[in-house]
Amino acid sequence: MSGLGSKSFVINPGADLAGTVAVPGDKSISHRSLMLGAIANGRTRVSGFLPGEDCLATLAAMRAMGVSVERVSETEVIIDGVGLHGLKQPDGVIDLGNSGTAMRLMMGLLAGQGFQVTLTGDESLSVRPMERVAKPLRQMSAGIDTTEGKPPVVINAVETLSGIHYEMPMASAQVKSAVLLAGLYADGETSVREPAVTRDHTERMLQGFGVPVEVNGPVASLRGGCELQGMDVQVPADISSATFPLAAGCISSGRGVTVTHVGVNPTRTGILDILKLLGASIEQSEAASVGGEPVATLTAAGSSLKGCEIPPHLVPLAIDEFPMVFALAALAEGETLITGAEELRAKESDRISAMVSGLQTLGVSIEELPDGAKITGGPVQGGVVDSLGDHRIAMAFAVLASHAANPVTILNVDNVATSFPGFVECMQSIGLDISEISA
Ligand code: S3P
Repeated sequence: MSGLGSKSFVINPGADLAGTVAVPGDKSISHRSLMLGAIANGRTRVSGFLPGEDCLATLAAMRAMGVSVERVSETEVIIDGVGLHGLKQPDGVIDLGNSGTAMRLMMGLLAGQGFQVTLTGDESLSVRPMERVAKPLRQMSAGIDTTEGKPPVVINAVETLSGIHYEMPMASAQVKSAVLLAGLYADGETSVREPAVTRDHTERMLQGFGVPVEVNGPVASLRGGCELQGMDVQVPADISSATFPLAAGCISSGRGVTVTHVGVNPTRTGILDILKLLGASIEQSEAASVGGEPVATLTAAGSSLKGCEIPPHLVPLAIDEFPMVFALAALAEGETLITGAEELRAKESDRISAMVSGLQTLGVSIEELPDGAKITGGPVQGGVVDSLGDHRIAMAFAVLASHAANPVTILNVDNVATSFPGFVECMQSIGLDISEISA
């Protein structure tokens, strides 16, 4: 998949990174605020919205289906909801770019509409599995066609959906959310049981919009037909983006790095547990709650990292942070074992193989496993690494490069803008010698 993008990062190692930064809004919460705001009655005001390409694709999709979405500023959005049954058939196909979350959640949201719609995506999204969502939706009587299990996905008009109980075979918040969103349009009750805890932003936000969602341990359920009421959504900073400057703080020898106002929903904080297991010092302060989501300021101070076994139950709680975990393990003394993480192969790239090949290029000793890797920490060489167009692979290598023996070039970094617009400036502000060049 190389050749996806035209931009590269060049990092000169050696700087000791320290300082305080703010990172952009949470991607998961930003997507959901647009989708739920669109089908609510009345106005929803979103602040702290992530103006990344993924969420802008969702925003354009809502507009294409007749919803008025005003961008008051980069990070403030006003949505005039059209009500549960107010979405209109778009004129053409809906292109969701790089965003798996947009596609999977929208499959659920649109399964019960009275019109046909086709969802497509970019080169990376076009090879990602969609049957995991199509299958339970078909059990609810949705008319979903995938293309050999992948996008484009056609959602056909149906009269009604029927509620089901779905036992999810994999721990995926996207699958859980798609079924619950379709459940809004289904007769009777829809419930989902997850095999391990995954992010619960959909459940929390639906409750904020006035939908009674019952959560009993691993089972979330709701009844169809409930109207949503517009609300104010304050989006906290994305812990998945905060991970990169925090990791820089963990491997610095200076004062460390502080990231302000970060979402610390317990279904997302697996990375903090993993950083501590690796021996990092992480402190939380200024704890507060905004719109049903906990937030805090996080500080990671320089520490000498030690390899460890990552407990598999932390995998879904830190699913997007694993590229950074692989890279930190390369700097930790001894061996780090990552298992139970086969879901990483179904992300924006096959993240296990992308990290293995990039780390090997930089001289790191790493053994690929079907569901993870065994990494032995040691010196990191300079070189040229291909991010394969995966934003988080690109950012993880950029942080690691600060500790390489020689400069590192990271190819195909255009997609960093999908989740972390301003990444380069953010990392420069804590001292990283990083520049972006166009081919
Ligand atoms: C997301 C869920 C996760 C995560 C993705 C965002 C969400 O995917 O990797 O970046 O917003 O629900 P899975 O649920 O498929 O693991």
